[in-house]
Amino acid sequence: MKNKLSEKIKETVAFLNENGVKDPDTGIILGSGLNGYADRIKDPVIFSYDDIPNMQSGMVADHRSQMVFGEYLGKKVLVMAGRFHYYESRDMEKASYPARVMVALGVKRFIITNAAGCVNRDLGKGKLMLISDHINYSGDNPLMGPNLDEYGPRFPDMTYTYSKELRDALKEKAAAEGIELCEGVYMMFTGPSFETPAEIRFARVIGADAVGMSTVPEAIIAGHAGREVIGISFLSNLAAGILDQAVTGEEVMEAAEGIKDTFARVLDLAIGIQKI
Ligand code: HPA
Repeated sequence: MKNKLSEKIKETVAFLNENGVKDPDTGIILGSGLNGYADRIKDPVIFSYDDIPNMQSGMVADHRSQMVFGEYLGKKVLVMAGRFHYYESRDMEKASYPARVMVALGVKRFIITNAAGCVNRDLGKGKLMLISDHINYSGDNPLMGPNLDEYGPRFPDMTYTYSKELRDALKEKAAAEGIELCEGVYMMFTGPSFETPAEIRFARVIGADAVGMSTVPEAIIAGHAGREVIGISFLSNLAAGILDQAVTGEEVMEAAEGIKDTFARVLDLAIGIQKI
């Protein structure tokens, strides 16, 4: 029996190859409020997700649902501006499909970004956090179903998903420019409701430093295929119950607007790291 997912990926990859996407080495997935970064690529090839076979377009208002490919900082960079979240359809295959396509296109380094709620009070709102590890609390996994052996094993290791070597190198480069990067564990809740204060206390107890509704599906797909992953969370708000006030989508977007230049600089540095 033909594996349908595998066929779909091949169809998408063939379309992108035919339309100028060749051998991307770096894949960047932009989170809420950060899509403007894609505009840095000069002479890009731009696709709307709607025009790419088998691709689902994101439905979150701020997200532009575009794939942008081009040369940037001496690398061939493929940017996903806008993601289709798990909460939009309860479908992990759709939520992780762009990452599947990046793997199949040959992306070696994934840079995955998000806005997240800060659970660890020692970090704080407004910080950029390198993801050192994750907790998949979605209750689902994008690798469920037949394994695509051509990309990775049935039971992939997740111990080294977020490379320490890359984190250390990125922290050092950022520090040299006066940008502080903290580090911590990202926990994925499905959303779309924000967490309750009790859920946030639970998250802290089990070891989370930040919570969000994305990134984990993509990191699992990249990790499955043994690709490098750099995960960066922007801590856009203190998670529910830390302050006696509501968490809102507006606060998240507003905060993202304020950090976007620094975030962009960190992304530039992340693209440029040479592995030692
Ligand atoms: N919770 C979940 N996802 C988020 C949050 C939050 O507090 N902030 C930004 N994304």
